[in-house]
Amino acid sequence: MNMTENFAATRLATRAIHAGQEADATTGAVVPPIYMTSTFKQDGVGALRGGYDYSRSVNPTRDVFDTQLAAVEGARYAVALSSGLAAIDVLLRSTLKPGDSILLGDDVYGGTYRLLSKVFVPWGVHVDVVDVTDLQAVRSKLSQHHIDVVWVETPSNPLLRITDIWATSALAHEFGATLVVDNTFASPVLQHPLQDGADAVVYSTTKYIGGHSDVVGGAIVLNDPEVYEKVTFLQNAAGAVPSPFDSWLTTRGLKTLDMRVRRHSANALSLARHVEGNAKIERVLYPGLESHPGHDVAARQMQGGFGGMISIQLKDGMEAAKTFVGRTEIFTLAESLGGVESLIEHPAAMTHASVSGTALQVPDNLVRLSVGIESIEDLTEDIDQALASL
Ligand SMILES: Cc1ncc(COP(=O)(O)O)c(C=O)c1O
Repeated sequence: MNMTENFAATRLATRAIHAGQEADATTGAVVPPIYMTSTFKQDGVGALRGGYDYSRSVNPTRDVFDTQLAAVEGARYAVALSSGLAAIDVLLRSTLKPGDSILLGDDVYGGTYRLLSKVFVPWGVHVDVVDVTDLQAVRSKLSQHHIDVVWVETPSNPLLRITDIWATSALAHEFGATLVVDNTFASPVLQHPLQDGADAVVYSTTKYIGGHSDVVGGAIVLNDPEVYEKVTFLQNAAGAVPSPFDSWLTTRGLKTLDMRVRRHSANALSLARHVEGNAKIERVLYPGLESHPGHDVAARQMQGGFGGMISIQLKDGMEAAKTFVGRTEIFTLAESLGGVESLIEHPAAMTHASVSGTALQVPDNLVRLSVGIESIEDLTEDIDQALASL
């Protein structure tokens, strides 16, 4: 399909399948080939075909993904990197310099906090942490000293807290800060931070966008040409690029994202409702439940579902949580999330071990579920039998 103005008016699921997918000029192949090449023949010194010279700088398969993701987001630019953390690192280094400050939500992926506290703090960046769902607390931090970047995950990892993107971006802008949203949990299907006022969005495409637990990747999405220039400069200068094959896998995942995320969300809502009130469970954290403190904001901000992630706290503490994650049969005990298959993990000892002893420490009776797209009856029976065995 040609990228006409009519195309820009199509819905997300259509753009996800068609954007960037020009049929191959030589053969008409409907799926653009994987350009598994490190370099490109030049027709004379500097006479490049289509601007391609070397695959760290530019590669046609990566371009397909960048075009596709930008179209899905309705953004000017999308830039693929080799992992979610590489995307976070490149965006932060393009935005911050020594002496600058970042305000971070107090519930984020442990690796994000580790990168900031162990790499950016020694580099001279000041890192402050706040309950970013509390607008008064954010205002108070912003008025104490100048902050350059406010960093939000919503829903957050692993406590599934909800931040009002619209209100937080207005607040950040009032104080001259920019707002970055890590949209990994919601995916571009359910939540549109740029439309809600955010300045940039990051993804671990390893999760829902890739969607099949077979590729590690990341992406930055934004509209600002100056930041885009800095990001692409650093991408080339530092070299954290995805391979052509990884770019292609991620492109393939993005095509089915809309359908998958709706099914993840429907399964998760059903499971969350089912386990809420179970005698072995202290609390179910899922933004789709009316009992969730962020439910009203999530219902307005997320369109088409509340995502596939559920966290639960077990009444009998850490040992019960560790036993429980070993008792499921369909839910696989593993880190990561967002794949078609259901996963289960114990954040305090696994994904969030690096925030132990910090303001971001997570409860040790917490179990995180990445609800897959299997039959909900089987998932429900699996969780029921694992709870009953405790
Ligand atoms: C919300 C979030 N952001 C970023 C990352 C980092 O992504 P990656 O593992 O692809 O580097 C993760 C990883 O789990 C994550 O959950």
